[in-house]
Amino acid sequence: MIGTGYVGLVTGTCLADSNNDVTCIDIDQQKIDNLNQGKIPIYEPGLTELVERNVRKQLLHFTTNYEETIPGCDCVFIAVGTPQGDDGSANLSGLWKVTETLAPLLSKETVVVIKSTVPVGTNRAVLEKLKELSGRDVAVASNPEFLKEGAAIEDFTRPDRVVVGVDKKEVGDILHQLYKPFLRTDHPFILMGLESAEMTKYAANCMLATKISFINEIANLCDRVGANINEVRKGICHDQRIGFQFLYPGVGYGGSCFPKDVRALISVADNVGMNTEILKSVDDVNTLQKKVLFSKIDKYFEGDLRGKKIGIWGLAFKPRTDDIREAPALVLIDDLLAAGAEVAVHDPAAMENVKAIYGDKLTYCQHHYETIKDADALAIVTEWSDFRNPDFEFIAHQMKTPVIFDGRNLFESPRLEGEGFTYCGIGM
Ligand SMILES: NC(=O)c1ccc[n+]([C@@H]2O[C@H](COP(=O)([O-])OP(=O)(O)OC[C@H]3O[C@@H](n4cnc5c(N)ncnc54)[C@H](O)[C@@H]3O)[C@@H](O)[C@H]2O)c1
Repeated sequence: MIGTGYVGLVTGTCLADSNNDVTCIDIDQQKIDNLNQGKIPIYEPGLTELVERNVRKQLLHFTTNYEETIPGCDCVFIAVGTPQGDDGSANLSGLWKVTETLAPLLSKETVVVIKSTVPVGTNRAVLEKLKELSGRDVAVASNPEFLKEGAAIEDFTRPDRVVVGVDKKEVGDILHQLYKPFLRTDHPFILMGLESAEMTKYAANCMLATKISFINEIANLCDRVGANINEVRKGICHDQRIGFQFLYPGVGYGGSCFPKDVRALISVADNVGMNTEILKSVDDVNTLQKKVLFSKIDKYFEGDLRGKKIGIWGLAFKPRTDDIREAPALVLIDDLLAAGAEVAVHDPAAMENVKAIYGDKLTYCQHHYETIKDADALAIVTEWSDFRNPDFEFIAHQMKTPVIFDGRNLFESPRLEGEGFTYCGIGM
């Protein structure tokens, strides 16, 4: 397993847990040293125990050494990052570096499986490059990953579907065998061409991002015309053609996937002369949505936030992860600091990552109640379960003024207004 991040570490560990002998490789020596000392570099529920169990069974190993690991492998998975490049397209430099390193080390039967999210055409280009560098035929498969951070183990071990793209059916059979322990009758293994598998991953993420931007746009409209998005949501989502999932209004999507994948697909389309109007709007709506909470706070304080103390609950881009890549909380923090506010923050898992960016510009609180001591307002950005049932009486006593800006619509405004709060959600 090459690349030991959110995807590589989870995939490698789950494959070891289904009785495969897995070695995870990374170029980050510190990460590998930590893993070899039992320190897990990311927060992902259940992962620590699963890593420990498989290390103990000697089915899971960690190294930086390609030469000792790759020769003789049946499968080599590539799960390195494919972040957004300066022009919005996917930056594939890590993938190409791996391809060059791998080529001379591959055994004849090794299947190279690309798990990283890569633009259409990349798997075939890697296949050609490996052939050129090794001087013989090579087997490549595209195996996009659909796991969600925060529920990654559950998603990997009970996937809705496994998608594999190949240009030779035999290669698909090898992967089918590998995935059999995780498949259920109604959760299929779907074999397709390399290009279709690559496109499937982008289309899936872009569809989900579209749902989020859609409901956010409707919520913003509700705000302006006096409708309540919670009521509207129920009204539309009971329609089975629409459904409830991914139609929660909020402060915009973040994370390491949706923002970059939407932009990468826009870039893919631009390269073939096609204008993706929907995707561009999805991205634009999301960029604006990340500013919505700040706009509401700024408006409430009549454009003067100097010296105002704002508490923030939630920093990670979603609950049950420490990942803050493209997190809406960072946009809010930047805007609040620029406006002269004092910001106190709490997150159950992501505080260290935020501290690495902001240093002493913020006050870091060990408990979410500490953020609101003498605060002028509370902003809720991530819907961790710890925040869902607070003691409002206590909160009202702690705060200078009982004002809540709820970016996740966790509460009902009539109840909070009844308890003396000023409560402002998204679209309600
Ligand atoms: N994070 C998610 O939820 C998720 C879900 C589905 C798909 N993906 C995709 O999976 C891929 C990996 O994402 P991630 O979030 O796990 O990334 P990550 O940044 O958490 O991890 C990538 C790892 O690859 C390592 N690496 C980079 N170059 C290397 C090299 N030459 N040799 C060995 N290791 C190297 C890095 O040190 C890092 O540990 C991306 O393409 C992403 O789009 C991510």
